[in-house]
Amino acid sequence: MERIRVTLEKSYKDSYEIFIGEDIMGREGWITTVKNHADRYVIITDSEVNPLYGEMVREKVRETARPVDVIEIPAGESSKSVTTVLDVVRQLIRLKVSRKSVLIALGGGVVGDVTGFIASIYMRSIPYVQIPTTLLAQVDSSVGGKTGVDLPEGKNLLGTFYQPKAVYIDLSFLKTLSDKDFANGLAEIIKYGIMGDHNLFEFLEHESDGIKKRNPSLMKSLVGRSCKIKADIVEMDEKELGLRRILNFGHTLGHALEAVSDYTLFHGEAVSIGMVGAAKISHTLDYLNNASYQRIVDLIKHYHLPTRIPAGLDTAQIMAFMATDKKAVGGQLHFVLVKKIGAPFVTPEVPAGVVKETIEELQG
Ligand SMILES: NC(=O)c1ccc[n+]([C@@H]2O[C@H](COP(=O)([O-])OP(=O)(O)OC[C@H]3O[C@@H](n4cnc5c(N)ncnc54)[C@H](O)[C@@H]3O)[C@@H](O)[C@H]2O)c1
Ligand SMILES: [Zn+2]
Repeated sequence: MERIRVTLEKSYKDSYEIFIGEDIMGREGWITTVKNHADRYVIITDSEVNPLYGEMVREKVRETARPVDVIEIPAGESSKSVTTVLDVVRQLIRLKVSRKSVLIALGGGVVGDVTGFIASIYMRSIPYVQIPTTLLAQVDSSVGGKTGVDLPEGKNLLGTFYQPKAVYIDLSFLKTLSDKDFANGLAEIIKYGIMGDHNLFEFLEHESDGIKKRNPSLMKSLVGRSCKIKADIVEMDEKELGLRRILNFGHTLGHALEAVSDYTLFHGEAVSIGMVGAAKISHTLDYLNNASYQRIVDLIKHYHLPTRIPAGLDTAQIMAFMATDKKAVGGQLHFVLVKKIGAPFVTPEVPAGVVKETIEELQG
């Protein structure tokens, strides 16, 4: 089992470990990290994950000889809401969950974001651990402590930075994941390769056959490398004051495409096109050479993710959505670009004309 430590500068007590392995839920003592703090556990999971893994995890947690309850929320993004938060909180009160209790987020990014948010505000905060079950949650949302829910006005508008006590990544959960959810996670891993690690990029190029078949040892390597990149960046910039923004590579255009397509493009697809867009802008502005740009496009194609904007999405609408990005500073849009594979930087200086031209070239 691989272990990665996330050391946060604020205080030692905020640091935690990520455990990665095949079938770690089946092992003795996996939850000992938090056992000392807990008088009881509450597993928060969703309606698709619960029938698959709820009972198994509950059985394992029961071995700690503490009471364990399960709260199920409906699967899907619509559960990332204030309504869900209030509903779950009322159940916690009924269960007499105290500050000594520990919440366990068992599920994808939705369950992780909602559980982390509740843990950060319930009784002025109680501990929680993450057991991410989607590839996206394993390589992205479970690491870094961003929590939150959506509002009708937009995604993730209400949230906190609140770190888990531990993250347990069991790769055996990936076996039941749909192709769409596997692709969503892969797009984020490709992102880490492009913006974070040239070796990871080459690994993705060379091992694509096995990765597409979800080969466990290749997946372990991919998930471990991805978590390490994210953990290193989060350690340096927990609250996204600067550096952490490079993790948004491909997401400025990606988020706009997701929204303008009315979410018919799923996140991984939108981010894939967004990464091609960011690479193309990097090339147009003479930061990235043509060969590297082509390698990026080829890698994304290789994993059957899209590289072009589907017909029917309006350029003006895409541009307008990007202008509302909550990461814009003083109305100025910040783009994450690359100088070469593995060398990202953030710039507010991409002319609107270049963005528009790029979108038009990627259309159709
Ligand atoms: N906090 C962060 O830093 C961060 C980062 C990226 C994304 N996010 C958030 O994460 C969310 C997306 O996460 P997601 O893609 O994991 O979505 P999700 O949680 O909705 O999971 C996708 C689907 O897969 C099902 N599922 C989960 N694990 C499964 C398994 N092992 N086998 C079969 N089915 C399984 C779920 O029930 C759900 O239907 C978004 O809300 C996004 O905003 C947060
Ligand atoms: Zn993403």
